[in-house]
Amino acid sequence: MSGRLIALANLKGGCGKSTLALNLAAGLTRRGKVALVDADPQGALQHWSDWSPMEGDSQISVFSGDPLEKLAQAAKTHAYVVVDCPPSLDMNLTGELLEKVDTVLIPVLPSPLDLWASAGTVESVRKAREVNPGLRPWLVLNQVEPGSALSRAMSQALANLDLPVLREGVRRRAAYRLAMLEGKSVYQLNARGRDAVREIEWILEEVLRP
Ligand SMILES: Nc1ncnc2c1ncn2[C@@H]1O[C@H](COP(=O)(O)OP(=O)(O)OP(=O)(O)O)[C@@H](O)[C@H]1O
Ligand SMILES: [Mg+2]
Repeated sequence: MSGRLIALANLKGGCGKSTLALNLAAGLTRRGKVALVDADPQGALQHWSDWSPMEGDSQISVFSGDPLEKLAQAAKTHAYVVVDCPPSLDMNLTGELLEKVDTVLIPVLPSPLDLWASAGTVESVRKAREVNPGLRPWLVLNQVEPGSALSRAMSQALANLDLPVLREGVRRRAAYRLAMLEGKSVYQLNARGRDAVREIEWILEEVLRP
């Protein structure tokens, strides 16, 4: 089954790995049992989960500790596992995780600078595919401003990365920040989260398609 083990990776910091990891995990709880592996030593998702209200996304089990061990463990007991990879410092860990998952989503901000900075991540994906040929990579544009067309430099930089781009990007929305602050996912914001939920669902549909 494709999209069962999903990593969010980009060695470039601040592109939206943790934000997308937790919201995709929340969307997946409608489809099966979900584990979230927090592979970032900063532990953003562990904090988020500790902060969750009791009625929150308590269906998501957050695993911290040795990420490779936790991924193997979670994969046995959960229908879906989402892995939040660390930024730059531990490049090898991201590479090793990518050898074990079946899908990697690479969030990128829509700026040529951010895209150029993602070249190292694309290289890690290429290496991982040598041992894990079934790995499906996708670039996901994040924090897209409504109505802004991609500049030529941007389209060129995207094409140079030479990976498929998810058809639907993720817009810059207050709902993502608000949900994170409240220890929730956008699914729990009701009307305030509706548009964000719709785009997370689009991503899941594309990623889970066989
Ligand atoms: N689509 C979005 N709309 C609005 N804010 C967003 C969006 N995506 C991410 N953010 C905000 O951008 C910041 C960085 O996002 P996030 O922490 O998810 O990135 P990251 O890649 O996990 O960072 P790091 O590399 O440091 O782990 C956070 O403040 C987050 O709330
Ligand atoms: Mg993070």
